[in-house]
Amino acid sequence: MARILDGAAISAAIKQEVAEEVKLLATRGIRPGLAAVLVGNVAASQIYVRSKVQACAELGIYSDLITPPETVTTEEMLDLVAALNQRDEIDGILIQLPLPRHVETKALLDAVLPAKDVDGFHPVNAGRLQAGRPALAPCTPAGVIEILKRSGIPIEGQHAVVVGRSDIVGKPAAMLLLHQNATVTICHSKTRDLGSITRQADILVAAIGRPGFITPEMVKPGATIIDVGINRLTKREEFDRFFAGDAKREAAFLKRGSTIVGDVHPKAFEVAGAYTPVPGGVGLLTIAMLMANTVRAAKMRRGL
Ligand SMILES: NC(=O)c1ccc[n+]([C@@H]2O[C@H](COP(=O)([O-])OP(=O)(O)OC[C@H]3O[C@@H](n4cnc5c(N)ncnc54)[C@H](OP(=O)(O)O)[C@@H]3O)[C@@H](O)[C@H]2O)c1
Repeated sequence: MARILDGAAISAAIKQEVAEEVKLLATRGIRPGLAAVLVGNVAASQIYVRSKVQACAELGIYSDLITPPETVTTEEMLDLVAALNQRDEIDGILIQLPLPRHVETKALLDAVLPAKDVDGFHPVNAGRLQAGRPALAPCTPAGVIEILKRSGIPIEGQHAVVVGRSDIVGKPAAMLLLHQNATVTICHSKTRDLGSITRQADILVAAIGRPGFITPEMVKPGATIIDVGINRLTKREEFDRFFAGDAKREAAFLKRGSTIVGDVHPKAFEVAGAYTPVPGGVGLLTIAMLMANTVRAAKMRRGL
């Protein structure tokens, strides 16, 4: 039986540590603050941002939720970011993606002060991460490393294969694994004979955005699988393709009308030595690491 790497327990432990740091900072008159910018009415984004604001409240972090309308222009968003860069009670600026098509996302992310870039998306932080300097690392990849370390999974000398090369997940995950002395291979949509490479992985990170893409024959028996994917299934035939016979999931699917599957086929977990479930794995770490980054930004900005 493969071991389940419990994202809920690990994220709770990290949040507990962050809450303790917040208390310690309070004794010095410092309260870390996060500004969350949520544009328009994307349902998934609203859920994510609500969870982030709620986590701030739980941990004693100040938060300011700003909700510009769908029609907001790039110029108005740039003015908003400039104002947040100036505000002293704001240590972290989170711009929930995706933004409406007419807003220039890269220009906005570049406008966030690197010291307040708690998502770690600014090119300065990407460069600092690559150069091995202290940086605010993107939350999801940072969460991947926390799961491995806190679960006692060795990284040094292991062959880590990362499928996906996005700036948000794949690339920074590969860089963080490299800094932990893994031997890293990055795969993407142009990789030839993907299975022959993923089968070499001691640690397989799937960040693809395609439901159940990694199948059992693509996994080395005993490997650790980190499934970053979050894909919502709403059709019955899709549900059956992945979860036929899973009564508990079926009940939830019938009740909610949807379920979540990762980028790894559930059958592939049976080949693994350890794996992160979806939901209940990497996703929970993303918010915990955002909280940790906000406190880190608050300290770094004050030279602590
Ligand atoms: N857990 C969390 O909190 C969290 C956070 C962020 C994202 N996610 C999830 O993680 C997944 C990836 O997100 P992302 O933002 O990195 O997605 P993305 O920007 O769409 O990148 C997907 C990557 O997968 C690669 N890819 C696509 N099809 C492939 C194929 N057939 N074979 C090999 N590689 C393939 C792409 O290759 P090319 O570069 O060649 O196109 C690309 O590099 C999504 O399911 C997303 O929902 C979860």
